[in-house]
Amino acid sequence: MMMSIEELDARYVLNTYGRTRGRNLFLERGAGSYVWDGEGQRYLDLVGGLAVNLLGHCHPQVIEAVCSQVRELIHVSNLYYTRPQAELARVLVEHSAGERAFFANSGAEANEAAIKLARKYHHPGRYKVITAANSFHGRTLATVTATGQEKYQQGFAPLPAGFAYGRFNDLASFEQLVDRETAAIMIEPVQGEGGIYVAEQSFIRGLRELCDREGLLLIFDEVQCGLGRTGKLWAYEHWGVLPDLLTTAKGLGGGMPIGVLLAGSKAAEIFKPGDHASTFGGNPVTCRAALAVLQIILGESFLDGVRTRSELFMNGLERLHSSYPGLVMEKRGLGLMAALELHQPLAAAAQRSCQEKGLLVNAIGERILRFLPPLTIAEAELEQALATLEVVLSTLG
Ligand SMILES: Cc1ncc(COP(=O)(O)O)c(C=O)c1O
Repeated sequence: MMMSIEELDARYVLNTYGRTRGRNLFLERGAGSYVWDGEGQRYLDLVGGLAVNLLGHCHPQVIEAVCSQVRELIHVSNLYYTRPQAELARVLVEHSAGERAFFANSGAEANEAAIKLARKYHHPGRYKVITAANSFHGRTLATVTATGQEKYQQGFAPLPAGFAYGRFNDLASFEQLVDRETAAIMIEPVQGEGGIYVAEQSFIRGLRELCDREGLLLIFDEVQCGLGRTGKLWAYEHWGVLPDLLTTAKGLGGGMPIGVLLAGSKAAEIFKPGDHASTFGGNPVTCRAALAVLQIILGESFLDGVRTRSELFMNGLERLHSSYPGLVMEKRGLGLMAALELHQPLAAAAQRSCQEKGLLVNAIGERILRFLPPLTIAEAELEQALATLEVVLSTLG
């Protein structure tokens, strides 16, 4: 007899995703802000493939880009030039603090490239990277060490040397860590996996000044908060502070795996042939998908629309915060990247209850609910999500 998906997964897939805890759905189809399970049940998706589906599911222009590229050329390696990669580099550079791009396949790989570039920039000598407590930079050995959360590091010792952790929004804690071996400071302008914490202006400005004073590279990890998610193309635009290295990934490929490191003028000529590489990085299909995504995000008034929808959503979350003060401790966020922190460890229960009511949200840890709607979500869909959340909170409270 044919095994069920659950049986196949339990038997053949390494058990890294906690799927056996019974909150898993079998998703078969997606369109716009919705996904459907195998029984035809529809869900409004505020998880968005963990910040990937900026344009919702199966956006027609992404489909068109991928399908037409797949018919022409799927893969050739970086031994050769391909137009989609070169064009994508141009568009990204023209719209960022970067001068040159390196293409990878994920956020962790983009950050790994940034860490290597920072070390090469200072080589020989400085090699340490200071990151923030509660940050998330990926799961490779270097990026999980850059990640300032012990829970992700346990069991993998010895971790690579050369990482230290300041406290987010505490400039002095970073200043104290800088020594003669420090090469770079890396932060997420809005911490995502850590629970949606927004950097303060004085912190970001202070980090820039500190890096300039000490000759360090400033790296912004905009894997999650970049590409319009905060209502501006790059989160750093909110603070008017430019990084030396910028990484992004997640939403760039419209669901296709891609990551990119953008190196600004100081660091753009550091990597030489052979210093770094990726077999799939800059693959023409993913690059065509990314060009389609950027064309939409950079389109006239797209980001104005994100800011309008953000205001509606943030006001709604604030109303929930003030209506249920005994339950909701805090509302945080920027643009369409938001969280409600609960007083009690009820996030998983809230997530389950939302799911039963046709709304997908993401519980982080025990007390935080994270919301990453598509940037294209309709106002009526946001109202619907807020109404469901209200029902869920009223039953939990
Ligand atoms: C800020 C940030 N950096 C890096 C990563 C790692 O990206 P990936 O899972 O694509 O390797 C993530 C993933 O959640 C992230 O949020």
